[in-house]
Order: sequence, then structure tokens, then C-alpha cells
Amino acid sequence: MVSSARQYHNETSYDRFDMQGGYMDWGNQPTLYKTYPDINPISLPEPSAVPEVSLWDIAGKPSDKPSPSPLHLQHLAQILSVAYSFTAQSRHGRQVFYYRSAASAGALYPAELYVGAHHIEDLPPGIYHYNIGDFALAPLREGQFEQDVADIIIPPGSPHCSASLFISGIFFRSAWKYRKRALRYVLLDAGHLLENVILALRSLGLNYSYHYDFDDDKANHLLGFDPRQEACLVAIQVYAHRSFETSHPQNIAPLSREMMAACQMAPHEIVYEEIQQMQTVCGTVVEPQKRYLELRKHLGLSSPQWFTLEPDDSGENELAFPQAMVQRRSKRNYIATQSSYQRFYKMLDLLCKTMSQDAQAATPYHDAITVGYLAGDIEKVTSGFYLLDPVKKRYGLIGKGTFISPMTAACLNQEWLSNAALHFLFMTNLEKIDQMWGARGYRYAMLTAGRLGQSIYLGATALGLGSCGIGALYDGEARDILGLNQESCLLYLVAAGPVKRL
Ligand SMILES: Cc1cc2nc3c(=O)[nH]c(=O)nc-3n(C[C@H](O)[C@H](O)[C@H](O)COP(=O)(O)O)c2cc1C
Repeated sequence: MVSSARQYHNETSYDRFDMQGGYMDWGNQPTLYKTYPDINPISLPEPSAVPEVSLWDIAGKPSDKPSPSPLHLQHLAQILSVAYSFTAQSRHGRQVFYYRSAASAGALYPAELYVGAHHIEDLPPGIYHYNIGDFALAPLREGQFEQDVADIIIPPGSPHCSASLFISGIFFRSAWKYRKRALRYVLLDAGHLLENVILALRSLGLNYSYHYDFDDDKANHLLGFDPRQEACLVAIQVYAHRSFETSHPQNIAPLSREMMAACQMAPHEIVYEEIQQMQTVCGTVVEPQKRYLELRKHLGLSSPQWFTLEPDDSGENELAFPQAMVQRRSKRNYIATQSSYQRFYKMLDLLCKTMSQDAQAATPYHDAITVGYLAGDIEKVTSGFYLLDPVKKRYGLIGKGTFISPMTAACLNQEWLSNAALHFLFMTNLEKIDQMWGARGYRYAMLTAGRLGQSIYLGATALGLGSCGIGALYDGEARDILGLNQESCLLYLVAAGPVKRL
């Protein structure tokens, strides 16, 4: 019985000497497209181009309320097309496989997007599912649910919003391959998509807030999920440019059985009890006793020597945000060459900016993880294991030496990782986050790690570097290499560095 984050994480660890077989049931492969029977999706308009802004500018820009203009359907089309659309394809026989703008473990794409339309010009108020394949919205509920969404969020959200967006995870899409470990990937993937949504909103100058805390049951009910199959993981509110008359909460009826059945992705879905139990214990939102956890002091690492991150903005010709989004791909063809300090600095700067965004928010979710990195061959940087302090923009040396090779072995011997100049590390102490936020702290940690993972992917792409997320690791080995204590772990690793130009 899983009753804590630590238990779920330990139960789903990979161990070199005890790996389960990798059998995949191809006849029961889940579909990547959610569709609703008897609902005609509304086509979204052809989106106009989003501004050619710098990723670093939008990552760092604080948002001030209210949003500058009324939200049009055209804005929504822009947000959705930037955040979640097809960006590449490959052919397998007569079948075409489409890759998406958000990275996803195994390209299984468990994350779905839903829209609450409250005050969007040219779109009737209601709840919609975003159909990525047809670039369309499937209407699920008609009516004004602005107040209901505000009430679902904990603490209550704003009742003056143009739109709400919801990111869900469909468990069996990932569990088909990763089984009970799948919740890890579902959360990381949802975090990747969230970062895309946030950047899309920022690039359009729209003000928003995002929330990991809400009433799970009410959110799943509103969106029409069977929570054993699909669950809401993030809610985002897009603020209105002016206040509208407050609407009244609705009496929200269950969606029809046929619509609920749309959560089913494969003929014979397996429900993994570890995932369900973890979802249940994550369901409680705990108000923490203190604001900051200072997690990095609880990883079992010695106190590092801190150095200020020396700025170097000398580089030119970075790709603008929209191009980086379209060109982002997982790259594994790293080359053993020295990486420039300038690009190293820009990567760390981007992470600092992204992590500092929610320092003022109701819950500083970034506090649920500590970011570190393994530096390989980088100009002016000693190879070793470092921690990053995003608020003070400084880095701390934990240990000099070669960490990248042993970490490559711990990442299921994915040999190409040994040539990557950087391994970014997202770590936590599972006991401490549990004490602070209950099991829901695990969601904060994994969603935040996913957000930062996507940020690394985009930053690397903009700088002409390669990047790739790594969820496959022998958990105990990774912990030992880093010298973390028994309660702590490496949640996610993202490699980055120079790659062969094709
Ligand atoms: C959470 C997560 C874990 C991943 N783990 C691995 C991994 O262990 N090995 C690997 O080669 N790729 C890994 N990837 C990369 C995915 O396979 C890749 O994102 C997916 O195939 C889609 O391709 P794209 O990123 O080029 O769009 C991971 C990606 C994510 C988001």
C-alpha cells in the first residue's frame, strides 16, 4: 500500500540487478488522440505568428495585472499552437508519427489540454477539450464556469479570468510502457507542457497564474474524467483585461457515460494500484507551517563553496522563442568538444530566471526541488558536481572530478550521455517535502522538474546546443554517485551540450 511519496518513489525504482521484463503489448497500444463520440469539434482559426521575442526576456519578465487587451479566439489559437502542436514527423511504413512541441518520455504524450472559456471573444463560454490532431476544440460543457474554477483552486483563484487552462495526465498512455513507474513520467511530461503554456502566455503579454493546488475531485468532475484513467494535474488562470460581473457557481452535472468513456485509450487498460494509491494520497492539499524548506540543506551534501555566476551575454544569433519551440528535439549525438562559457552561462541564467518566477507566488513550488549539474568539458569551469542557487544567482561546488561517466552508467548505460557537456540534475528529499506539503509535495517536485526540463530543452535549442531528458535511471546508483542521503533522490536528469551538426 503506497502511503507517501517516498514509498511510491522507492516502489518504482529501477535496479540494475532487478529489472522487470520490457514486454510491450502492441495489440493493446494506447491511442495518442483523445476524441469524443458525437461531438463535432470547433476548428480553431489559423494562428498568426507570435512575437519573435527572446526566451530569456520572456522567462524573466514579471507579469503585472491585468492583461492588456480582451482575449480573442485568435489569442487562444496562438497559445495552443505554440504550447502544444506537431513540430516534426517520421514515417513508419505507411503510418506517419507526429512529434509535439513538448518533450514526452517515450513519445507517449500522456498530457492533454482543456480550456475553460469565460470571456473569449468569438468563443461561447464553456469547457472544451483541445484536440491537437485536428487543431480544434471539442465542447464538453456550455456555460459560464468562471466562478466554479476559481472555487476549485486552493486557495481560491481569481473570479475575473478570460480563460482557464487545465493540463491532465492519461495514466495508461505511459503505463503501457513504464507500468507502475509511469506516474513519474506523467508528472514530468505535464511539467514540460506547463512550461510551454507559460512561455506562450508570456510571449503574448498575457497575465496568468498557475496552480498545483486545487480540489482534485471537483476538477476531475468538471473535466469529465474517470480519475483511475485521467486526472487534472495543473490549472492555469489567464486574467481578464477588466473585471466582469461575477458569475454564480453552476450545478455541475456528470458528463454523459459516452463522454467519460473517452478517457479510455486502449482496449484492455491496466490500472496500476501504486499509481492510484499515490494519486489518492496526493489528493490532500496541506498548508505548510513555514514558507521555505531550504531543501538543499537536507540532501545530505556538504555545504558547498559558493561562487557568483559571472555574466557573459556576448553571444549572438540565438533563435527567438517561437523558432526554438518549433526546432526543439531530443538530441543524443553529443560530441566530446569543449562547450563555451557563454552558452553555459546562458543555460544557468535561464534556469535562474525560470525558477525565480514563482518566488512571490502563494506556494513557491520551486522550493520542492534542488537544481544541480554535472559539468564536463566547459570553458573556464572545473569538471565536477555543483548546486545552483537561482535566487542569489550563484553556484556551489560539491565535488571536483568526473561524474558524467558514472552517471551515464546509472542512466541505464545510455552511452551517448557520456559526451554531453552538462547533466542537469533535479533532486529532492522525499521525507522533507512530505513533512512540508504531504504527498502532494511530490507533484510540486516532479511538475517543477518537468517545467525546468522543458526550459533547458528550449534554451539549448536557442543556443544551438542539443538536449535530452532522462527518466530512465537506476535510482540507488544515481543517489550514491551524488552522495545523497537515503531520503533523497535524483528525480530527473536533462543532458545538454554541443551536438554534431547534421
Ligand atoms: C520525462 C522524460 C524522460 C525521458 N527519458 C528519456 C530517456 O531515458 N532516454 C532517451 O533516450 N530519451 C528520453 N526522453 C526523450 C523522449 O524520448 C523524447 O522527448 C520523445 O521521443 C519525443 O521526441 P522529441 O523530444 O524530439 O520531441 C525523455 C523525455 C522526457 C520528457
